[in-house]
Amino acid sequence: MTIRKAVMPVAGFGTRFLPVTRAVPKNLLPVFDRPSVHLCVEEAVAAGIEDIIFIVSEGQEEPIARYFRPQPALEEALASRNNSAALEQMREISGMANVVCVTQTEQRGLGHAVLMAREMVGDESFAVFLPDDVIWADSPTIGEMIEVHRKTGGNVVGLEEVSDEDVPSKGIVAIERMSDTTSRIVGMVEKPALEDAPSNLAIVGRYVLGTEIFDTIENTPAGALDEIQLTDAIARHIESPGVYGYHFGGEHQDVGNPLGALKASVKAALDREEVAEELKSWLSCIVRY
Ligand code: G1P
Repeated sequence: MTIRKAVMPVAGFGTRFLPVTRAVPKNLLPVFDRPSVHLCVEEAVAAGIEDIIFIVSEGQEEPIARYFRPQPALEEALASRNNSAALEQMREISGMANVVCVTQTEQRGLGHAVLMAREMVGDESFAVFLPDDVIWADSPTIGEMIEVHRKTGGNVVGLEEVSDEDVPSKGIVAIERMSDTTSRIVGMVEKPALEDAPSNLAIVGRYVLGTEIFDTIENTPAGALDEIQLTDAIARHIESPGVYGYHFGGEHQDVGNPLGALKASVKAALDREEVAEELKSWLSCIVRY
């Protein structure tokens, strides 16, 4: 079973990142020098995904689509300046994947956003990325999750341990461990009070889902925050075809808030040879104050 499509919901006001999100879509803000949507598309493509379906809010379609579209005037300018490295990079971005945008006119929750992609996804299992979650891992996290989906035929979610403080803002699961990296999920609850949470294991924004999820979302009533929650729909498949968790390794940052985005930028810059040394020496000076 090949997974060829990924849905990336990016609609939303970006309230955790005001005021800059008054004018700039949150997932176009830089992680060092590229937006989180670029990093997620890169992860998807590395796992064999070809088609990306962004779910955007009104006004976001143009800036997101523009990022992935060829830009002839820019390419001409780079060519005339003999900047072949930048030119090649620009061409790589527009050639990364087939990108389409679907506009979500009402914001009724993550489940509702995923449902917007139904027609584009058609009749095949698909991946979902929440581009606030940026993950650096040796092997693409979504690729490992696609493997779990292949082996089990079930829905798969990314899992990470979170602090008590973060539990009430996440989807939280109860598991039966199968291996170091994989668990069977036996309970799921969206944004529980800490005392009702079955564990500290939270869903991170990576999913591999079967198409049965679309009918289920349609029949899922509003839940936490009075929104149609993807977690609630997935939970209805615990018995059949089953839900599995992938405990990913590597570094994860939530770039949907300023501190997470700053940490992600530092991490990304430390991975760049051309700036890493200067950044390290500046950081070691500045932290002394
Ligand atoms: C969403 C999901 C939640 C998950 C989280 C991960 O919540 O509903 O289950 O734990 O993403 O970032 P949101 O952040 O959209 O409230």
